Amino acid sequence: MQVRFVMTIEPKAEPHPSPTPNSDARPTGRRALILATAVGGCALGAAVVGPSIALALAPLHAKSGGGRWVRTVRLDQLRENEPRRVAIVADRKDAWTLERNVELGSVWLVRSGDQVRALSSVCPHLGCSVNAVTSADGKSGDGFACPCHTSAFDPVGKRKSGPSPRDLDVLETRVEDGHVVVDFRRFRIGIAEKVET
Ligand code: FES
Repeated sequence: MQVRFVMTIEPKAEPHPSPTPNSDARPTGRRALILATAVGGCALGAAVVGPSIALALAPLHAKSGGGRWVRTVRLDQLRENEPRRVAIVADRKDAWTLERNVELGSVWLVRSGDQVRALSSVCPHLGCSVNAVTSADGKSGDGFACPCHTSAFDPVGKRKSGPSPRDLDVLETRVEDGHVVVDFRRFRIGIAEKVET
């Protein structure tokens, strides 16, 4: 009896090629999802945090000082050459707070026709509040006097006597809608120069 053996040789399977790094390859599936989430998170963070930081730092970069135009009394409420003290009322802002209608100070207004001269009521010596001096007939101003150390000023604010190192500080004015508007500013005291604070 003859026995036959049959051998079957399977062709050798070729190994699958391993993936090679490719910078142009586009992320797919889970990788793409993770990447998209990370990018979106960064963009959202920048959008939310960026303006907050800018807002918080803004007051640090805000300019301080400078005048502000403040509306006061009507022009027709001022008598010719008769000084009138008026309060300067406006909003007060500092770095982070805002107060409405605060009295910031006062000025003396002296009308001459349609022109109005505004003088700071702060004595340039040590900062006391100066008073108007009325003329003998009581009809017009005769200058200004400081009650603290007797500095005296003429009707336009020129220093006449006393320890004040300079004249009264003049402020700009204009008339708008029949009202006197004053460019309110503060100046350093105790020095001869007019230097804004
Ligand atoms: S504060 Fe006015 S004279 Fe001294």
